[in-house]
Amino acid sequence: MNTTASHDTIRAVQWHGDRLRLLDQRRLPAEEIWFDSTTSGDVTQAIRDLAVRGAPAIGIAAAWGVVLAAKTGEDLPAAMATLRAARPTAVNLMWALDRMKARVDSGADAAALEAEAQAIQDEDLAANRHMGELGAALIAPGSHVMTHCNTGSLATAGYGTALGVIRAGVEAGRIEQVFAGETRPWQQGARLTMWELVRDGIPARLIADSAASHLMKDGKVTWVIVGADRIAANGDTANKIGTYQLAIAARHHGVKFMVVAPSTTVDMATASGDDIEIELRDATELLSVSGTRTVIEGAEAWNPVFDVTPAELIDAIVTERGVILKPDEVQMRSMFP
Ligand code: MRU
Repeated sequence: MNTTASHDTIRAVQWHGDRLRLLDQRRLPAEEIWFDSTTSGDVTQAIRDLAVRGAPAIGIAAAWGVVLAAKTGEDLPAAMATLRAARPTAVNLMWALDRMKARVDSGADAAALEAEAQAIQDEDLAANRHMGELGAALIAPGSHVMTHCNTGSLATAGYGTALGVIRAGVEAGRIEQVFAGETRPWQQGARLTMWELVRDGIPARLIADSAASHLMKDGKVTWVIVGADRIAANGDTANKIGTYQLAIAARHHGVKFMVVAPSTTVDMATASGDDIEIELRDATELLSVSGTRTVIEGAEAWNPVFDVTPAELIDAIVTERGVILKPDEVQMRSMFP
């Protein structure tokens, strides 16, 4: 494992020459289980099942899926189409596959595709470190912040997006206390973000998702910091379900709201959040907790796993290209022409 800084010790997506080794995020924190994918089908399944998750991480995994397909002589267009359909909302998946397809179309061999996937992974880590610095600079020393879902090393090549800003903010003495929402139903906050923060010695407290407004009301939290799965051309941002209500509560309480995502999450071809496909997952994720049914048999559930926060509720969008304050289409187009 690469250990690059005291507050950054986790690398969950690892290429091993002929296999992609993934830390199984379904099993954390109870068990740290690694498993290998050797075909693009294995990678597709891992993305679908959330063994690997988080917008940048699924893009990176898909790029390695294309490398596996090339190395094992799979039908590349078919493999790429299957990977692309694994999940609909995070545009990083489509972006990474488009980038790999461009190399395939230009006649790249398996070695060249391997170099491209490695570049995608390395660039993501570099973007995260840069965003960490940019985002942390917006936060006053000694602040309390809140985050949602998991946007850390597990969700990216390493370091994280919103969690990267938090890591950088803690290093710089700007962040004193982190509150993480548990992020029902899949509990990315409780199971994954708390795992990362505790392991890396970052002062963090878990809250129930429903405690967020009550927390903001006491005035100690000054920023809500979240990641993104897709940012539309007008700044509307799709992220984990529950993000939208946090943005509404933040505005009501005078708490600032920061979205942190690499440029690979920006989709200038999508005009607004209304045009973003929101993934609906199986109702069983809501009707059970850790595999144990908690709701009466026969009950139905509706399980959208992302929502859209309108740009007007966002105070800052941080990408590796820079910070956009009070995002709108004009500013988005000038940073992402
Ligand atoms: O369903 P998930 O766990 O893949 O959703 C992840 C999120 O919504 C993250 O906030 C987003 O992908 C940004 S990860 C850096």
